[in-house]
Amino acid sequence: MRRRLTGISIALLALGAALPLAGAFHDDGVAHCSACHEMHAGRPETGETLLKGSNATDTCLRCHASRHGNTWGPSDDPLTPGPLYGGGQFVFLLEDNLNDGPDGAGDPIPGHQAGHSIISRDKGTAADPLHSVSPGGSYPSSALQCTSCHDPHGRGGHFRLLYGSDYPESRAGGHSFTFTRPAPDAQGIPVHGPEESDTHHTAFRAGLADWCGNCHGRYHENAVHGGFRHPSDAPLTAQIAERYNSYDGTDQPPPTDPYLALVPFEDPASSTSYSGPASSASSRVMCLSCHRAHASSAPNAGRWDFNIETWAEEGVESGSYPIPNPYPAAGAGQRNLCEKCHTP
Ligand code: HEC
Ligand code: HEC
Ligand code: HEC
Ligand code: HEC
Ligand code: HEC
Ligand code: HEC
Repeated sequence: MRRRLTGISIALLALGAALPLAGAFHDDGVAHCSACHEMHAGRPETGETLLKGSNATDTCLRCHASRHGNTWGPSDDPLTPGPLYGGGQFVFLLEDNLNDGPDGAGDPIPGHQAGHSIISRDKGTAADPLHSVSPGGSYPSSALQCTSCHDPHGRGGHFRLLYGSDYPESRAGGHSFTFTRPAPDAQGIPVHGPEESDTHHTAFRAGLADWCGNCHGRYHENAVHGGFRHPSDAPLTAQIAERYNSYDGTDQPPPTDPYLALVPFEDPASSTSYSGPASSASSRVMCLSCHRAHASSAPNAGRWDFNIETWAEEGVESGSYPIPNPYPAAGAGQRNLCEKCHTP
């Protein structure tokens, strides 16, 4: 690739030598301005054209595509997404069919439904053609970029630099937007080390559904939208907590460590290594119990494919990346993960 060295990569090499990028890059709120901005007389100019990348998304992807959280993936092949740190990889937006249901081959669901269609000039991803605004809300899909959700200047010191009601003005693709609900209380795993597992995962403590609701409202609770009805910020009842804690896969004996990173719940006492039971007193179902925040190889950024009956179907009809079966002992007969919380 050396012969294709561009001005940008030369600047990057110089930058790499000049800045301690391996460390806590976004610490203290704002990192070196010149990591993202073209500088003039030591001060960054405003405006998208003076970013180091083709737009805000591409500026972030310079460092975050395959490193520091692998938010795109190591290549542009959605079959090799690389390690997962929580949010999921946007490369699935390039998939041609995500539908693993029984009629999946004949009824393709295109990649733009893999999740948030972030606009990247370099990757060629465009605004979602299906939803012109966030379902349940009003955020325009034509402005959706990394900086719609993440504050590049990290004000507020929030979980994953997310915007919140104390630093509310997000600006992306020329669109300004006010976050009326606070950033969630959560803790992520390091974006350099081992990927997500059942003992190493985001600790969701409170406020996730509220935060997604900045753009979506209480999506499935709103009768206006028809379709799937479900609480999105509700306590696990005694019955559901009992189900969660005794479920270790289809037809399997109960687990000793019931927490499943693929079907997380929110709990104020959660930690990134928590592997214990759900509590009917304090654990809650929330948006990310069922969805990834970025994208996945299932429709609607599902943490698993909502269309499959059993894991034997995963990745088969669509030819898309098969989401790994979290319960290998149950084998291909493992069923849809709604069953982690509900008896069929
Ligand atoms: C010059 C490289 C570089 C650029 C450009 C960059 N980042 Fe980062 N980012 C990093 C590094 C390195 C870390 C890891 C810091 C650590 O582990 O302490 C990081 C961490 C993060 C985290 C996790 C922070 C946390 O507290 O857990 C988020 C979220 C993030 N970056 C978002 C972005 C967004 C959004 C953009 C574009 C506006 C961006 N980054 C641009 C290098 C970069
Ligand atoms: C991690 C990447 C990153 C770093 C580091 C960074 N910026 Fe920015 N900055 C951005 C992005 C992306 C935008 C554009 C947002 C948009 O309009 O799409 C921006 C926009 C701005 C703007 C326009 C107003 C606004 O808030 O949108 C100013 C001013 C600014 N940055 C100043 C700074 C200064 C000063 C520093 C260093 C102290 C800095 N930035 C460091 C990514 C960064
Ligand atoms: C800054 C606004 C914003 C926030 C915050 C936001 N979304 Fe979205 N979301 C959008 C927009 C715009 C769309 C429609 C465009 C698209 O589908 O890419 C969308 C679409 C979606 C979709 C449908 C994806 C598809 O194409 O099928 C899901 C699922 C979703 N969001 C879930 C969430 C969850 C869960 C959260 C919280 C972790 C969240 N969103 C936070 C703006 C937002
Ligand atoms: C719709 C809002 C939204 C958009 C758009 C978005 N993020 Fe995120 N991001 C989140 C949330 C929420 C999390 C925490 C997910 C979790 O822990 O389950 C996250 C997590 C991360 C992390 C930590 C590693 C991980 O995968 O959990 C990084 C780094 C990051 N985002 C960077 C980016 C970059 C770069 C982009 C654009 C290419 C982007 N994000 C677009 C909401 C968003
Ligand atoms: C119990 C699991 C579950 C929870 C919790 C959940 N969702 Fe969903 N979501 C689904 C399923 C299943 C679908 C696909 C079926 C449908 O669209 O009716 C979906 C679809 C969506 C879509 C895509 C709709 C479309 O027309 O493309 C959006 C947007 C969405 N969810 C947002 C959210 C938000 C925001 C939250 C939290 C406030 C949330 N979801 C909580 C399971 C869930
Ligand atoms: C993390 C646990 C969890 C997961 C995963 C989950 N649910 Fe639920 N579900 C709940 C809770 C909690 C309630 C509320 C129960 C109550 O109030 O009695 C609920 C309620 C329901 C209801 C009744 C809704 C109403 O309005 O009365 C249905 C139907 C349902 N779930 C279906 C599903 C389906 C389908 C899936 C998979 C796409 C799913 N659930 C995944 C926890 C979960």
